[in-house]
Amino acid sequence: MTILIILAHPNETSFNHAIADRAHKTLSANGHTVIFHDLYKEKFEPALPGEEIQRDVTLPEEIARHCSEAAEADGIIVVHPNWWGMPPALLTGWVDRVMRPGLAYEFVEGDDGEGVPVGLLKAKKAMVFNTSNTYEERENRVFGDPLERIWRDCVFDLCGVKETTRKVFRVIVTSTQEEREAWLHEVEQSITTLFPTEP
Ligand SMILES: Cc1cc2nc3c(=O)[nH]c(=O)nc-3n(C[C@H](O)[C@H](O)[C@H](O)COP(=O)(O)O)c2cc1C
Repeated sequence: MTILIILAHPNETSFNHAIADRAHKTLSANGHTVIFHDLYKEKFEPALPGEEIQRDVTLPEEIARHCSEAAEADGIIVVHPNWWGMPPALLTGWVDRVMRPGLAYEFVEGDDGEGVPVGLLKAKKAMVFNTSNTYEERENRVFGDPLERIWRDCVFDLCGVKETTRKVFRVIVTSTQEEREAWLHEVEQSITTLFPTEP
């Protein structure tokens, strides 16, 4: 299978990088083809230009490549920290520019955009890895865990990816080396469960 990994964290020594690296290595060991994007390192431009909102436009080469990779991947993995209950702006910009109508979703004929869209992505499985400094009980009670709805419902389900698995590692700021090693082992296991070894 071809699996797309999208990483959004500015610091190369971050635990997010360690997660993405372990996911990459596990997928490769399982025989999958990996397309890997470190959005900060690549200096991805997140601001959606006005002219790209129109449907049938010629996209910049970099965005066109992101679009075809996302459309054709068999699985999509995103890795990012919880920032204000949201993904980093660079990653929401990636969603804005890459999850395009006609490519990631489509409205049925006669629907001008007010109805329920049909998902178009080929991928049937997505995996989200998040890091956070908030205990689970407080995240759910006080904030309502917005990242769960953003990825599962607002992005992946809408674009046709019906199986989203999410893992949140917390609390990062007080975590020990042993805890982090155990979490990276969990990354390996969940990746292998979702994308098993190719026959
Ligand atoms: C701009 C910013 C906003 C943040 N907002 C939150 C937040 O809303 N909830 C939370 O639990 N942690 C928040 N954090 C903490 C990060 O989630 C935490 O630093 C990160 O998950 C640690 O992972 P890392 O070691 O890979 O950087 C925020 C951090 C930054 C820099």
